[in-house]
This record gives sequence, structure tokens and C-alpha cells, in this order.
Amino acid sequence: MDSIWIKGGNRLNGDIPISGAKNAALTLMPCALLTQEELTLVNLPRLADVDTFGHLLNQLGVSTSVAGVRKGEFGRRMTMRATDIVSTVAPYDMVRKMRASILVLGPMLAREGEATVSLPGGCAIGDRPIDLHLKALEAMGAEIELAAGYVKASAPRGRLSGGDFSFPVVSVGATENALMAAVLAKGQTQLFNAAREPEIVDLCNLLAALGARIDGIGSSHLTIDGVEGLHGCEYEVMPDRIEAGSYACAAGITGGSINLIGARPDDMRATLNALAQCGLMIEFNNRGIKVSADGGLKPLALSTSPFPGFATDMQAQFMAMLTLANGDSFLEETIFENRYMHVPELRRMGAEVDIHGRSAIVHGVEGLTGASVMATDLRASMSLVLAGLVAEGETEVLRVYHLDRGYERLEEKLSAVGATIERRSAG
Ligand code: UD1
Repeated sequence: MDSIWIKGGNRLNGDIPISGAKNAALTLMPCALLTQEELTLVNLPRLADVDTFGHLLNQLGVSTSVAGVRKGEFGRRMTMRATDIVSTVAPYDMVRKMRASILVLGPMLAREGEATVSLPGGCAIGDRPIDLHLKALEAMGAEIELAAGYVKASAPRGRLSGGDFSFPVVSVGATENALMAAVLAKGQTQLFNAAREPEIVDLCNLLAALGARIDGIGSSHLTIDGVEGLHGCEYEVMPDRIEAGSYACAAGITGGSINLIGARPDDMRATLNALAQCGLMIEFNNRGIKVSADGGLKPLALSTSPFPGFATDMQAQFMAMLTLANGDSFLEETIFENRYMHVPELRRMGAEVDIHGRSAIVHGVEGLTGASVMATDLRASMSLVLAGLVAEGETEVLRVYHLDRGYERLEEKLSAVGATIERRSAG
């Protein structure tokens, strides 16, 4: 199995191009199921999860073609066409590999009047239920059965009908499934307390480009007037705000200066505020965002929350950076109950972190030391890479497949700004 090897201690300086957003790509791709016409996505990141989603769509009858990318270029272009849906079943072996597979439920049900999707089960960052996905679809008339580990959903007389649903807690995935279902339902749907993450805005903008009628885009109250059919379009995936934030932390932890090329400030205000409070300098220009370390790191108090709050997907990377802050930081994880798997590994590198339930106190230390480490999820793995960039000596981050799910050509981007990092094959 491959690993990422890092020799720590280099200050990182230079440009990092920000890729298309993984979390947007994985909700834009299932929109191909909603129309018989072609959907072309450009700036799709080259990531394992995007490939896996492409394979799932192929199994359902969607043809996919990917335009070649020239050496040194990032992103790619995928054209998808679902002339006929040949299967409405998303099997366990796909859903188990990638939780986002659940996002075929809403569009398949809307287009075909039925869908059978494996329950995703637990995952490394805790128990992640899908009850709200199902309740929102039931509000549109879906009949749902749970049997043998599968959700079987059907629409009476083959078509969903508009209905109102208020989410008791903000859920990104459930809002996405509900939106993709509502656009083809008969009549109007209103979603209250909907998630308003930038990736949801990207989804709404794509659906609108396909001919959907959605009001309230960017707010937590979405009104969708169902249409009889959607057409095709070409659409550019938004830049990855979490990738950009992760590389901003790389500038912070190494005392360097990185231009995040193509990053959009409005998508990442909470991250940028936290970086500024930590003592980093943030500048905006027409190429993106420049983040520079300006002296030592100051400690912080941060609590994760839905957008526009501080993203749970940035918690692990900030924790890595705060291990070297000048004092004690306080972190609280309010979205997931088990998202501190990076802590034991950071401790092995010399970090001092106490966990109390969903809270963590990070006691700043003078330095970290390299070690062999591994993590069980994507952002946790990135926090270990960040720690490795500054640790004394060599760090080996195992289980690289987690990083490959979410960071396009990580080692190439970091070497280009001065890191000593390489992928090593176990042979
Ligand atoms: C969540 C994050 C998203 C992040 C992604 C991957 C939020 C609001 N969501 O999205 O930013 O990119 O993880 O790390 O920050 N819930 C239910 N029932 C459901 C669905 C969700 O109770 O049917 C609960 C979850 O347990 C969780 C909260 O709602 O506590 C938010 O979950 P949700 O937004 O749905 O998770 P993801 O879509 O995976």
C-alpha cells in the first residue's frame, strides 16, 4: 500500500491551484440521472471518489466519457448521459465504498418513480443516519420500506408530488437529496431550515441551468416548482473551499506564504476569520487568496457548525496547526460525535491534546517530531500531513487512499511550494 513520506521543516512559499470541490462534484454528478440529455461537468477533480461515483452511475445506465487532461493540468471534463436508466438499485458494495452514493436516491426516485439504495451503515466519523433524507422524500409522497439493509422507495403513480418539509437539524446530504427529488415532482415543494453550504448553492445553480425552478438559492428556505422535464447543460464545478483551507493551514504551520489560486473568499469566511485570529495575514487579489504567516501562531476557540459557521471538514487541519500555537486552544465538534481520530496520532508526534466528549483542548508545544502515522478518514489524514510538514525528521502517512479520495495530486501541489514530500509505493 502506498504511503506519503515527508521530511519536515521547510517553509512553504508559492502558488497552489485549487481544484474543483469534491463535495460539490459528488452532488452534481447524480444530477445526470435527472435528464435524458447530456450533462457535462468541467473542472471535476481527479479523485478516487469521483471515479467511484462514475462507476455507480455506469451501473445505473449512465454513459460517461472523460476528456483527457494534459500533463501538468488539473481537473477534467466529464460528459454524462442517462438516455435510459437500466437499474434503479445502488448496491451495498458501491455505497459501502462511498457514503455519497446515497445521493442517487432522490434523483432516481424523481425520474423513475422508484429507487433501491443500500443503507450506508456507520462510518469512521460516527453514526451518520439518513432518516432526514427519507422523511424529506416522504413529504413528497414517497413510500419507503427498509428491508435487508436496503431503502426501497417508490412514488405512488410513478411521480413524486410537491410537499413541505422542515429539517429539524441542518443536513447537507438530506437537503441535496430533497432538492434533486423536488425538481421533477408535481407541484411546489418548500424546504425550511435547508443547508446553505456553497456546495448546495452550486447544486441549485446546476439544477437551474438544467431548467429547474428554484427560489431562495443561498438561503435556508428553498421553494422548488417541479417541472415536467429537464434538459442538458455544461457546468463548471466550484473551487474546493476545504482544499483551499487545508493549504492555508500549511502556510500557517510552516510559517510560509501560499497563494490559493482560484479560491473564493465568500465560500470560506469562517475559515479565513479563524486564520486571521490565529495571526495569519490574508490578502485577496484577482488570482485568489494569499495566506501568509506573520510571526507565531495565536491560540483559538473554535466550534464547528453548519455554513456560514466554521466547517467540520476544517477541524482536524486547524487542530494540527494549533498544536504549535502559543498557548491553549479550545475546539468543539458539534456536527459529528466521533471526529477526533487524528488526536492519538498527533499525540504520537508530540502534540498535547485533551479530549472531553465533543471538546478538545490543544496545549501548544514548541515542536513536533516525525513518526509513522495513519488516520481513518480524509480530513484526519490531511491533519497528519500538515503535522509532518513541520515535524522534525521524517513522517510517513499510511493509508493514502483516504487522501486520494479528497486531495487532487497532493504531493505534487505541496512539492511545488517547497515541501520535501513524495509518494512511496510499498512495492
Ligand atoms: C457533513 C457536513 C458537511 C461535510 C460532510 C463531510 C454539516 C452540516 N455537514 O455533511 O459540511 O462536508 O459531513 O464531512 O456540517 N443527520 C441526521 N439525519 C440525517 C442526516 C443527518 O440526524 O438523515 C445529522 C448528522 O448525524 C449530523 C448532522 O445531521 O449530526 C449533519 O449531517 P449532514 O450534513 O447530513 O452530513 P453530510 O451531508 O455528510
